[in-house]
Amino acid sequence: MKRDEFSGFFGVLVATVGSAVGLGNLWRFPYLVGQNGGAAFILIYLAFVLIICMPIIVSEFIIGRRTQANTVKAFQILAPGTPWSLVGVMGVIAALAILAFYTVVGGWTFDYLVRSVMYIFSKPDVTSLEQQFTQMVTSPVRPIVWTVLFMGVNAFIVMCGIKKGIEKYSRIMMPVLFLMVLILVARSLTLEGASAGLQFLFKPDFSKINTKVVLAALGQAFFSLSLGMGCLITYGSYIPKNENLNKLAFTTGISDTLFAVLAGLAIMPAVFAFGVSPEEGPGLVFIVLPRIFAQIPLGNVFAVLFFAILLIAAITSVISLMEVVTAYVTERFKMKRKVAVALISVFVTVCASFSSLSQGVLAHVKIFGKSIFDFFDHLSANILLPLGGFFIVIFMGWYLKKEVVYDEYTNKGTLKGTLFSMSYFILRYVAPVAIAAVFLDLILR
Ligand code: PFF
Repeated sequence: MKRDEFSGFFGVLVATVGSAVGLGNLWRFPYLVGQNGGAAFILIYLAFVLIICMPIIVSEFIIGRRTQANTVKAFQILAPGTPWSLVGVMGVIAALAILAFYTVVGGWTFDYLVRSVMYIFSKPDVTSLEQQFTQMVTSPVRPIVWTVLFMGVNAFIVMCGIKKGIEKYSRIMMPVLFLMVLILVARSLTLEGASAGLQFLFKPDFSKINTKVVLAALGQAFFSLSLGMGCLITYGSYIPKNENLNKLAFTTGISDTLFAVLAGLAIMPAVFAFGVSPEEGPGLVFIVLPRIFAQIPLGNVFAVLFFAILLIAAITSVISLMEVVTAYVTERFKMKRKVAVALISVFVTVCASFSSLSQGVLAHVKIFGKSIFDFFDHLSANILLPLGGFFIVIFMGWYLKKEVVYDEYTNKGTLKGTLFSMSYFILRYVAPVAIAAVFLDLILR
């Protein structure tokens, strides 16, 4: 049977941008910006995206499309009999680690969307919002039920396959998402006092920068672009042979960054206009925003809009994470897609339940000093993804033959190979040194 693939440039783009744009942009990016000093953090983030990450996106696409296989098999095909396939295995583990906390936040989002539809936030009782959030996340049952529902939606889409599932639903969801974000930005920017938020986002204070901030920016760049764990290798394996990988990578990177900035523009002006601290952390979008929605005209409508955006963004990312594992399991164990997705969903739900419980009854359980939830987050974004990215650039720059890379980059010499030399130089020298430096500095401290 012919392997499923995306239908063309737009099909690939909505799927990869869908994977990239997610809670990382709308939930993680704003609070990291808040905690790490605003504009200076954003600048470092942008530098990482443009210089280091773009060539890595192309690399993952190349590895995937060349081999037309899941992320473990891809390395086995390109480097048979070597331990390189462990990079692929690490990717599958990273996907599961991200799913283990990401789907919990997806569940919270579902809960908040339904609540905002039921006009709970119409009461301007702003004092109890924090309590409501804490009560919800710490409760043993409720968030797990929502997480299960959330997983169900994702499982359904992934079961439908690449073209008829992932691509089909991304084609509908991504344009809607973009329009909805624009409406929210317009609302936020027209609030009185919005300019303080703009200053925070765009006026850098370089005294705030230290290694922790730089690592957070690197981790966030990888996380936001779905990089360093074989997600784009997996999606790359479904890209038709005649598509321009460089163009696709560039458009994906730019779109994701645009979305992150738009999310910042939707959230920060509102946060400052209402005199809230931007350093609120993970609760930012669940506590602070509802408080703001409760105080503006038509706030209910904007609340529904916002949580719908968050939910759509989360879904298009979770399906890509699930696809990494699904492609591996179906191809490795010759399992039917539906069966594989069902098994993976059950496994993820069990792990997610532990993350969820770690907000409440299991709060005392610590792994390396972190709650289960934070451990999965830290392990994936700050360790597995940059490490995976490091190995991928070494693999591309130093292991694979340059001709192979060039051949796939230019579709067998039929494209001009724009920027090839520069990208290759970055892969060989700049990216590994930069990633290693950030890591070492942190370890040696
Ligand atoms: N890029 C997603 C986000 O920003 O929310 C998260 C993510 C999805 C990370 C898929 C990694 C991945 F493979």
